Amino acid sequence: MPKGSIGVAVVGCGIIGSAVSEALRNETALFKQRAGVTLQLRHVIERDKDRARQAAIPEKLISDDFSIALKDPQTHVIVELIGGLEPARTFVLQALKAGKHVVTANKYLLATHGKEILAAAKKAGTCVQFEASCGGAIPIIAALTESLLANDISRVVGIVNGTCNYILTQMTQNGQSYEAALKGAQDAGYAERDPTFDVNGTDSAHKLAILSSLAFGAEVPFDKIEVSGIDKLSDVDLKYARDLGYVCKLLAIGEKTEGGLSLRVHPTFVSVDQMLANVHGSFNAISVYGHAAGQTLYYGRGAGGKPTSSAVISDILEIALGTAQLLFANLPILTDKKKLNFLPSSQIISRNYLRVTALDVPGVLAHITNILSKHGISLAAINQPESKVGHSVPIVITTHEAKDGAVLKAIKEIDQLKTITAPTVRIRVLQ
Ligand code: HSE
Repeated sequence: MPKGSIGVAVVGCGIIGSAVSEALRNETALFKQRAGVTLQLRHVIERDKDRARQAAIPEKLISDDFSIALKDPQTHVIVELIGGLEPARTFVLQALKAGKHVVTANKYLLATHGKEILAAAKKAGTCVQFEASCGGAIPIIAALTESLLANDISRVVGIVNGTCNYILTQMTQNGQSYEAALKGAQDAGYAERDPTFDVNGTDSAHKLAILSSLAFGAEVPFDKIEVSGIDKLSDVDLKYARDLGYVCKLLAIGEKTEGGLSLRVHPTFVSVDQMLANVHGSFNAISVYGHAAGQTLYYGRGAGGKPTSSAVISDILEIALGTAQLLFANLPILTDKKKLNFLPSSQIISRNYLRVTALDVPGVLAHITNILSKHGISLAAINQPESKVGHSVPIVITTHEAKDGAVLKAIKEIDQLKTITAPTVRIRVLQ
């Protein structure tokens, strides 16, 4: 690779691809001033050429043939922004084999085939950069692989999906419906092409797999992560959260416990006085706990074309500077992962919010509290609004810390009571 100048091919011209291509055409003077290197956009590979034309890409740069970028000796970096598993995986492996460096924002690909891809890069003597895969513009990968290297990291907790955070913010602060808020996130360019992975928690789990593998230096098979999303949340619980002094956030949590690594993504009630409760809209925030640093927090725009292009282009510049290759070749937590134990989900300990729906008849509350007490679950608060005898009524409970296995068993028993008229809702409370 020539010093001071680097040729780039962008593969995929969706929201991020368009923003990256635009910056590579219009902001090279800034990049030269900041990093001392010249970036040259040589190809934009897009199956739907009209899409690239609509993004104002000059005709001579557009192609639907990936092999053009592969064969071009002046293309040093291939930026994969098509998303999904295939053909992204094949293109990335071909690029590495051809001696190109790869920059990708593809969390799905890395969470699923990361081990294979990183090994292929090592074998080829090239590198893979993926700052844009987690947290959009937030330099969280750099924090984990550079700035916090002196730390034994015990916990990573974050809001890592801009779409979900935007939806929850709109529903909570502006009273929008779930559907209207999701449409808003799609219109703003935050959501994936198919937003299913955003709202069902899978996208956050992909990011958690990447972050926790770097934080803990561990191999993280994706199926070790417990995942639930915001797609089944009800407005009623968001309202009760507010009444209780909480905000509901979709959190990705990775922590080292004595029983092994605990990895999970789920809606969580966060006390309004915690920093994560005050992260709104498409913003993301990730807290990392190091033995020396203590708690650190990284905050910024987690989705959208322009913010994500900041991470993509910084990755390209680090390759142009040669720092990315050095780190990739020498840093064990990037490629040489330890096999660690995982904590079974029944052993996870957390506080809980329960909304039990029961007929208002004598003894119902006693039955519920008896079951909770039998399973060793201690109540922090309980509230039932006044109602008419014989009508269904919500009983809102928060618990002290309890093991998940015990909580789920208790809920199952509660829901079998004849007086229970709807399944109990359980949401974890952040401690
Ligand atoms: N759809 C993702 C989000 C994009 O909403 O966070 C950034 O990875």
